[in-house]
Amino acid sequence: MPRFFAPGRANLIGEHTDHTDGLVLPVAIDRGVTLDADLGGDEIVLVSADAEGKVRLRADGSEVPERGWGRFVAAVAAELADLDRTPVGMHGELRSDLPQGAGLSSSAALEVVLATALAAAADLELAPLDLAAACRRAERRAVGVPSGIMDQAASVLGRADHAVLLDCGRLEYRFVPLPADHVLLIADSGVRRQLETSGYAQRSAELGQALHVLDGRRPCEIGVEDLDDLLAGLDDVPARRLRHVVTENERVRQTEAALAEGRLDDLGLLFVAGHASLRDDYEVTIPELDRLVELAVDGGATAARMTGGGFGGAVIALVREELVEPVEAALADGYERDFPTRRLQVHRCRAADGARRLA
Ligand code: GLA
Repeated sequence: MPRFFAPGRANLIGEHTDHTDGLVLPVAIDRGVTLDADLGGDEIVLVSADAEGKVRLRADGSEVPERGWGRFVAAVAAELADLDRTPVGMHGELRSDLPQGAGLSSSAALEVVLATALAAAADLELAPLDLAAACRRAERRAVGVPSGIMDQAASVLGRADHAVLLDCGRLEYRFVPLPADHVLLIADSGVRRQLETSGYAQRSAELGQALHVLDGRRPCEIGVEDLDDLLAGLDDVPARRLRHVVTENERVRQTEAALAEGRLDDLGLLFVAGHASLRDDYEVTIPELDRLVELAVDGGATAARMTGGGFGGAVIALVREELVEPVEAALADGYERDFPTRRLQVHRCRAADGARRLA
């Protein structure tokens, strides 16, 4: 039986920059969603090892379930139908080893694995970023979230041992090698959020109120030195949202340079500054994530910050191999002491290849 796989992603840096066509630096991780499916027929029939119920839909996605994960299946099929996919169905089973709501893009991995299989079923050849864009539209169609393209693009484009520097406006990308002696630790706070119910859309609307001062330029085209003048006429909240996005784009550029030149101390400073900007200017962190970043850094991580949309989810830490155990211990002890009702889960990950057919 054909098998397809799409990874989740962890973002190194470049948070909340994708929906204003900015720069992001995610990795695909070695965890994701697997789909075993017989291709053919005129229905999509799926079960999931991790979620309730069976999804049964017409292969063109024209029937839409009211709730649950079937909405994503219908939305992906409908987006591909809009790209003239022949409505060939499949019967299969999904399995995921990604925690949901942890900020690791479980929904993007689901969309991408479905799109990869449905394209294969109908011999539809799509360029990687066209497939990612269709999945991004599917996310909006399914749950109405105005997210950017980062998660789906990372799941499609990922490369082992590399991050992907993507310009979300130009849709140009390059691979950035990661330090070979480091592991990615993902510290999942146990605080769950869903993009549909988080403040994601509100933050992006507040940012939208500031964009007119850019005269059509993208935030990533603004120099940090010009910020004070630009922000002067804005209300406090839109000004802080825009300041985050402009400075964060600059941190993506600086992170690429720091990685290329092996300046790991600078990497640590950039991550801490990025986290502070998400806490103070974009206001999407929570005390649990703030504490996990401190614990990781104090415990010896090279760099740590929250990753993903925020309002819950996880922290990403780059940790030298020989320090993984002490950092894990510092995270577990400190978090249990400060947030005794929360359940921390720490995953050791590597940057991995993007979505593909495995069999
Ligand atoms: C979520 C969205 C992404 C991106 C991040 C924040 O993961 O799906 O498009 O905006 O939040 O960087």
